[in-house]
Amino acid sequence: MNTIETEDKYFIPFFNKIPISIERGEGIFVWDEDGNRYIDFTAGWGVTCIGHANPVITNAIIEQSKKIIQNPSSGLIYSPPRARLLSLMSEILPKPLSKVFFTNSGAEANDAAIKLARKVAGRTDVISTVKSFHGRTISTASATGQVKHRDKFKPIMPNYKFVPYGDIKKLKKEMDANTAAVILEPIQGEGGVNIVPDMYLKMVSEMCKKNGSYLIIDEVQTGFCRTGSMFAIDGLDLKVDFLTMAKGIGGGFPIGAFAVSEEVAQKIEKGDHGGTYCGNPLGCAVAYAVIKHLKDNKIDEYVASIGDWTLQILKQWKKDYQDIIEVVRGKGLLIAIEFFDPKQAQSVYQECQNQRLLVNITQEKVIRLFPALTITREEMKEGLDILNSVIKHQWEEYHKIKRGLGLES
Ligand SMILES: Cc1ncc(COP(=O)(O)O)c(C=O)c1O
Repeated sequence: MNTIETEDKYFIPFFNKIPISIERGEGIFVWDEDGNRYIDFTAGWGVTCIGHANPVITNAIIEQSKKIIQNPSSGLIYSPPRARLLSLMSEILPKPLSKVFFTNSGAEANDAAIKLARKVAGRTDVISTVKSFHGRTISTASATGQVKHRDKFKPIMPNYKFVPYGDIKKLKKEMDANTAAVILEPIQGEGGVNIVPDMYLKMVSEMCKKNGSYLIIDEVQTGFCRTGSMFAIDGLDLKVDFLTMAKGIGGGFPIGAFAVSEEVAQKIEKGDHGGTYCGNPLGCAVAYAVIKHLKDNKIDEYVASIGDWTLQILKQWKKDYQDIIEVVRGKGLLIAIEFFDPKQAQSVYQECQNQRLLVNITQEKVIRLFPALTITREEMKEGLDILNSVIKHQWEEYHKIKRGLGLES
């Protein structure tokens, strides 16, 4: 049996699989088992921030794995790679976040933040937003504002409330003395790259403070330069109590983290949380190398500039293909092209694959681009040229149908 047959036989079929089997990658490119090259605009779902097979990561893995991979007694015993990573993170985390713990994934980071927020606040309720995505554990699925990821697992965890993203009045209405926390993505990623004004985030922060509720900012998708700053909330001066991270932090190595403010840290007691891999030496060595690379090479500034450049090109497409593209939006290298018709978005998604460009589709009609942050302009242009020709073809087909119906000449 080949790879595809084997996976189809033994892998639990949670996904609408793409019939491509990738063997290796380099930068933004990946190659299938037959040696065909693809452009990866998904970065493994926003993960491989410094590109595939980056020597920065391979060397960190080699060097650390020669020394030690898992600490004896895990978190009980001190570990130099963990200390180095903690120290580096203290330089980049927004104030007033001061202490960090490590997880294996984004869902786990959110799960822990929610659990601890309830405990330290001594309150029960968590307010989340419609279209949010916070993970697939039972608690984070319960915190996710998308019915398809949540309601089929009933009974879900109780005491979650949902308000429309960006609607400050609805949030105020739901907040009361039982509100332990508000959990919020600074930009909703899975929800379709939904961007709210900075003012909204500031008001949520102030409202939480006033109400004695904690603010959990989920930067799993937006963190580590994805939106053109180390964290999407940088410079906003929010009172963040918990910040959750994953994806980009390990550049492809599965590691996540959450940070808490000093105020929260003081209320946490021994035994409140833990985990077998909580900052294991291998994961920490990789995360250290990735963050140092992002920082030393000012990848945040680079992403802001290439992201703006890309968005300008897409804004022109919106004008050129205005009857099929509803809107383009994005920040840094988290970019969306939303189509009016899910069928058109699906065709674009499919045809890009046929032309060896891998993009992502979310919310049925949003094509999401989130390539490696180190992508060059030439590489971006190569991918965009394919995408442009695919969208142009869709647009021509649309007009052909209209002409056939006598709706235009
Ligand atoms: C904002 C956000 N939070 C949490 C998660 C869950 O992270 P993980 O898949 O690492 O559990 C995701 C995953 O896409 C995400 O985008």
